[in-house]
Amino acid sequence: MFQSPAELKKLFEERAAAAGKAAEMEQLRIEFLGKKGYIAGLMQELRNVPNERKKEAGQRINEAKQFIERALAARVEELKKLEEQMLIDATESYDESMPTDDDLGSYHPITLVRREMENIFLSMGFAVEDYSEITDDYNCFEALNIPKHHPARDMQDTYYLSSGQLLKTHTSAAQNTILRKYKENLVNGQPIRAIFPGRCFRNEKIDACHENTFFQMEGIMVDRDISISNLIYFMKTMLSEVFQRDVTVRLRPGFFPFVEPGFELDIQCLICGGKGCPSCKDSGWLELCPCGMIHPNVLTAAGIDPEEYTGFAFGLGLTRLAMMRYGVKDIRVFNGGNLKALSQFTEKSFTRPDESKEA
Ligand code: DAH
Repeated sequence: MFQSPAELKKLFEERAAAAGKAAEMEQLRIEFLGKKGYIAGLMQELRNVPNERKKEAGQRINEAKQFIERALAARVEELKKLEEQMLIDATESYDESMPTDDDLGSYHPITLVRREMENIFLSMGFAVEDYSEITDDYNCFEALNIPKHHPARDMQDTYYLSSGQLLKTHTSAAQNTILRKYKENLVNGQPIRAIFPGRCFRNEKIDACHENTFFQMEGIMVDRDISISNLIYFMKTMLSEVFQRDVTVRLRPGFFPFVEPGFELDIQCLICGGKGCPSCKDSGWLELCPCGMIHPNVLTAAGIDPEEYTGFAFGLGLTRLAMMRYGVKDIRVFNGGNLKALSQFTEKSFTRPDESKEA
């Protein structure tokens, strides 16, 4: 059936608008632009057009052809996008893994302790930072004043990837990155204050007290004139908040290459009040948090002048803290899949203000 170019354009527009799928457009392409299609038909009709009108008629057919080609490509794109969106909508509206109202799940005890700690440090002006679980030798050791072959590496054997990277053995591995990230603060007269909780990995023989995968929370503060008193103040404040009572702390010397001086921070046993009981192995004290004054080499590695600035760092064992907090006697519970064991600690009030929407 003969159609004028103008009619053909109109017809194409109607048919394209009615198409619901990108695949249907291929049919339209054949119908309109194919060898035996409408445009080809019009070209054949040209034979019957008088010579003086042939050129103009030919131009109009060509113009219609180009119009249809462009409209076809645009509609295909449009339909593809619509289809994608429909797929997303369909997926969102049906998620088999979503719990039902009466089975809301629970927070992992480590998440609860982590959030609680984050809230405490946020209230003291610390930033909460995230850091990847994969790092490299430089960040995990070299930048922390632990050169190759240093005996301190023996205690921190880890999993090496074929790329030469490794799974971080301690949250201290982020110190260099975080110090660099915030060192502008110092120039502007502001301290660097950050905590960075994270998962750590070590080659361990697993038993009730040792896991190959565990959580720590590192904290640093750097400014002019930061001293051990500042360290003690922050540690005491944090622990009093966590345990909801005044805690007595003591510092013992401890060696870590990235702090000088380095300490082991103990708290007086909360069960016996320092008199001695089985929980504290009759010593009256519990070892909780290694810490110290950041070694000048660590500051230098981050481009901070140790003559001008000082700081403290601590590496709290989050898993350890969760064990103490919830009375979990076997560390393997945390990575086990026993939901009955893990779900009993949920306290829904522990959400960070900026995480309150997290499911
Ligand atoms: N990164 C150390 C470890 O996992 C713990 C540690 C000790 C962290 C002293 C610190 C620190 O920030 O000052 O064994």
